[in-house]
Amino acid sequence: MRTDTGQVFRLEDYRPSDYLIPRTSLAFRLHPDKTIVTAELTIARREGVSKKAPLILDGDGLVLKRIEIDGAPLDASAYQATPDQLTVPAPPAAQNFRLTLETEISPSTNSALMGLFLTSGVYSTQCEAEGFRRITYFLDRPDILSVYTVRIEAQKRQAPLLLSNGNRLEIDDLADGWHYAVWHDPFPKPSYLFALVAGDLGVVTDEFVTASGRKVDLGVYVEHGKERLAAYAMDALKRSMRWDEEVFGREYDLDIFNIVAVSDFNMGAMENKGLNIFNDKYVLADDETATDADFANIEAIIAHEYFHNWTGNRITCRDWFQLCLKEGLTVFRDHEFSADQRSRPVKRIAEVRTLRAHQFPEDQGPLAHPVRPRRYREINNFYTATVYEKGSEVVRMIKTILGAETFRKGMDLYFERHDGEAATIEDFLKVFEDVSGQDLQQFALWYHQAGTPNLTVSASHDARKGEFVVEIEQSVPPTPSEARKRLMHIPLAFGLVGSDGKDIAHGAADGAAVENGVIHVKKRRHVVRFPGITERPALSLNRGFSAPVTLSVEQRKEDQFFLARHDNDPFSRWQAYNTLLTEALIAAFRSGLGGKPPKFARQLVDLAGAIAADEGLEHAFRALALTLPGEADIAREIGSGIDPDIILAARNALAGEIARSNETAFRRLYAALEFNGRFSPDAASAGRRSLRNTLLDYLALLPGGDELAGRHFAVATNMTDRAAALTVLAHRHGDGKLARDALAAFEKRYHADPLVMDKWLMIQATAPGAATLDKVRALTGHPGFTMTNPNRVRALIGTFASANQTAFNRTDGAGYDFFARAILEIDPRNPQLAARLATALRSWRSLEPVRQGKAREALLMISGTEGLSADLRDIVERTLA
Ligand code: TRP
Ligand code: ZN
Repeated sequence: MRTDTGQVFRLEDYRPSDYLIPRTSLAFRLHPDKTIVTAELTIARREGVSKKAPLILDGDGLVLKRIEIDGAPLDASAYQATPDQLTVPAPPAAQNFRLTLETEISPSTNSALMGLFLTSGVYSTQCEAEGFRRITYFLDRPDILSVYTVRIEAQKRQAPLLLSNGNRLEIDDLADGWHYAVWHDPFPKPSYLFALVAGDLGVVTDEFVTASGRKVDLGVYVEHGKERLAAYAMDALKRSMRWDEEVFGREYDLDIFNIVAVSDFNMGAMENKGLNIFNDKYVLADDETATDADFANIEAIIAHEYFHNWTGNRITCRDWFQLCLKEGLTVFRDHEFSADQRSRPVKRIAEVRTLRAHQFPEDQGPLAHPVRPRRYREINNFYTATVYEKGSEVVRMIKTILGAETFRKGMDLYFERHDGEAATIEDFLKVFEDVSGQDLQQFALWYHQAGTPNLTVSASHDARKGEFVVEIEQSVPPTPSEARKRLMHIPLAFGLVGSDGKDIAHGAADGAAVENGVIHVKKRRHVVRFPGITERPALSLNRGFSAPVTLSVEQRKEDQFFLARHDNDPFSRWQAYNTLLTEALIAAFRSGLGGKPPKFARQLVDLAGAIAADEGLEHAFRALALTLPGEADIAREIGSGIDPDIILAARNALAGEIARSNETAFRRLYAALEFNGRFSPDAASAGRRSLRNTLLDYLALLPGGDELAGRHFAVATNMTDRAAALTVLAHRHGDGKLARDALAAFEKRYHADPLVMDKWLMIQATAPGAATLDKVRALTGHPGFTMTNPNRVRALIGTFASANQTAFNRTDGAGYDFFARAILEIDPRNPQLAARLATALRSWRSLEPVRQGKAREALLMISGTEGLSADLRDIVERTLA
């Protein structure tokens, strides 16, 4: 583990390295705790650099066994090797030389899961962001592009499968039961895209013929016996490959594309060139073990990693400050892919919910940072919702501002101009300026300024003048280390909805550039006048969520209800109802502080029934609309003085009222949606299940609700329905026998399948109420749980902290204390995992004073511990700052 050096890296300090490594030849002799790595690096002094420039390579916990230059061993006085650095103060004067390094590493004890690690009998690697330096000394930075040749030697019985990037040149037997393979990747790549896999795995193979007629061999490698569970991933891969050709004109470029599923992995997946490595959670699926959400995630992540081949690999990042260059753009691409494969409006609503649930709190709390940060202490901590999700929103806004056609031209120019390079955000923005002739300087602030902008909007109609006037004011809140903000360019899509539900055509407006249904907010204040509007319209704002902002709109309730019923933009229609629900819940929270039971407007409660029964709406849309804002969503909107118990009570009260008022309609629809045909994971079938399970959640609140859920569980023929029923039982009827029986039945059936048992852990960890803490504590001793597997830890402890508002935020602080201790236990083993978990405490300042004090104590307990990893110390100190 690298302990904290307190070093801060700054964007403005970037400078090109003195040396390059055009060719890298690696040889691995694999052994669980004594793997020998021989690296033969062709080192080239950069043009114009002094011959006296020392060569300084990065390492991380390395032991150097041998060093040679141009075949001659180096005298001990000619270099200095520490675990973290190799320095050759006076390298040869020649422009090029060959550096040979031998290091010894121990994959089986590599619990950080960075570099080369051996888990569950499989050797695999994770080199992004700075894991390659745990394998050999190197210029481990993304602007060093090298052509790799990799030789892997292993005992054939242990590792019949030997994979690396690119194409396989050789495979043959050696003496004593060993064998070897040689791989060559013709594409120069940064070290973070290097990968190696060795082990004994099963495989599903297929092929793909590219648009220009080249055949690509596809392989998805999984644990033996699980091949059947890889079919959906393979299908998603082929659809991704076709889609990137059709929508972005991007073809695959090697003859082989492999995916490997591993069971111990820090994140979702990794885009290594030609050899993607996945958390098995995002590969393995069938109707018996995976929910519809799992299928959708697999499809999206397979696509994401595949799309990185162009946005990330062919064009990579100059430095890690540019991370959003590949991540934001690739998330945008995977969002578009899923929208095309499924339902665009439903996908958009889901994206916005995710953005608000993860990115908004980040942007509004102590960990806020720009999409392109300017400084970091630990880069691992910048794989954030801001870089990924807000980064994607920024790309989406470029498309909104330029139009689809010009956006595509810009992307084409980007690929043409920067293929094979390590690029920057400035390079990216420049292609769009060049194809459009527009100045994107002000727009670029989206990359440079943290914080969620707010728009305050009010509108008035002058019937006599026939004028509709919209007044808009923007503000960007201060965030850590950025007190003063500049005005931004916010593309605000809108519509003026007439009483027939259709948009009213509006002539040229004045006050701001209004183009194709978008108001371009650029100044602090705009007054936009629409002439020729005789009837007062309802103003539909931020359609399709055109900009990642918050809105404070002065709007009549009747207009909000009208939009919730009639807005012809499906996203805004969902938003209108969601806003009404949120406002009602906030009001209930405030009244709850005085101990009164909340009251809800009849109209709000009835609208749920109308939406449920509206055959003109997709099932999935109806399910989303009927899903009440989550407890964390409500807390975020309230902003401060949060008492999660009161929020939960308010939410339950509204759910109960909706259920009681719409009982007949909900029961009828619940019955009508039953489906006994063959399972299919497609979006329409998933939507049907989703609506039915949402209705179940309501009906479970009525008398006999536990029996209904129990029946739903018993007759379920797929994991989506089974998990939904189990959730309802455990969350709504957790004390009852039906819940206990269902949990036991689930455990009995799936105890041997860790990924399914993760659901079992998650469902229990998210049961509302203070008592869940004891349950979670007990489950840490369950034979299916282990602190050493990231998926298990995230399922039980991660979900408890990030998704159980009432139990985690217990008034006595016991939830925080348990959590802090768990983090301290994980940190020495896996700093990345510990640091990620710790971000669950980021909103502690929005709690009411008692809980705030307890949360702070837990944070101080962590920060007061000696020997914290750089990762964890960075998160905890920023959270407390
Ligand atoms: N680049 C990967 C992606 O976005 C994510 C990633 C970054 C990652 N660092 C990692 C994955 C460490 C696993 C471990 O797809
Ligand atoms: Zn990515």
